[in-house]
Amino acid sequence: MPKGTRLGELPADELAVYAQLDPDRIPEHVAIIMDGNGRWAGKRALKRFLGHQQGAECVQFVVETASRIDLPWLTLYAFSIENNLRRPKSEVSFLMSLLKNYLIGNVKRMNDNNVRMTYIGRTKGLPEEIQETMQWASEETAKNTGTTLTLALNYGSRAEMVDATRGLVQKLIDEAHRRGCSLEDMLQVDSLEERIDEAQISENLYTAHMPDPDLVIRTSGEQRISNFLLWQIAYSEIFVTDRLWPDFRGIHLLEAIQNFQQRERRFGGLGIGTDEHLEGNQIALEPADQVAEEIEHELLPKAAPVLTRR
Ligand code: FPP
Repeated sequence: MPKGTRLGELPADELAVYAQLDPDRIPEHVAIIMDGNGRWAGKRALKRFLGHQQGAECVQFVVETASRIDLPWLTLYAFSIENNLRRPKSEVSFLMSLLKNYLIGNVKRMNDNNVRMTYIGRTKGLPEEIQETMQWASEETAKNTGTTLTLALNYGSRAEMVDATRGLVQKLIDEAHRRGCSLEDMLQVDSLEERIDEAQISENLYTAHMPDPDLVIRTSGEQRISNFLLWQIAYSEIFVTDRLWPDFRGIHLLEAIQNFQQRERRFGGLGIGTDEHLEGNQIALEPADQVAEEIEHELLPKAAPVLTRR
């Protein structure tokens, strides 16, 4: 389906925000830390559970807006390892049942919206029954070519890095065995620098198949990352909104993208418009003797009066 075909499905208010966006600068990947379900419930004197229930209801609204604007990747932090370990068992099992109901209740809508379901995290640590439903939902939607919706479940970024390191080392050991030599011998031929670099680490993360997020949104006003995609968000733009997750809708996703489009991304370089930026990105090293001469004849005479003034 050509891009832009589904814009007509946006409600009028969302279309009005979309009209102000640059369609060529829609991010590739938006990741959302969905926070504030408990506070949403507390403000209404409701039980936390009802906040989660309302939070689960609004996931699909945001997913559908993402799919209508052809956002390629949407990742939602739905359940962290820390949630699993530190929340009461009753809350964890309620979240699991919400997840199951969400998947069962929305696979048809995912297919209608050309959305593909995937997951990241230590998903093997989730109840068997939930894993089966997850697998079913991803198989049912596997052929879709629109937005890839990734749910981070039993996810922790540090755990992901541990898993990636273990995976990488295991691959090296397996390769050495295949070659009939020790790991040490193999590393005599290909150095450690060649075998372990940033690209290798990225390839062993759960997100190896995805681009890094361009934009991370966090709801409920907390200014922290909470062990979410730490490696992948090195250069992401971060947008924090006070809105609580159960009040977040597609229009708020579009507003966050609008804010993103007003920013200048530098990736550690210089801002466009600076003279240095226009010179290109080659490091021009002046010869050491030239620098020494410059210090001696130009900089020191200027500094001398200042230095002797004391
Ligand atoms: C934070 O709220 C949110 C979570 C613990 C997980 C997010 C879960 C959902 C949105 C519902 C289920 C998800 C799916 C995909 C069906 P909080 O309890 O930390 O809120 P608080 O900080 O206000 O207490």
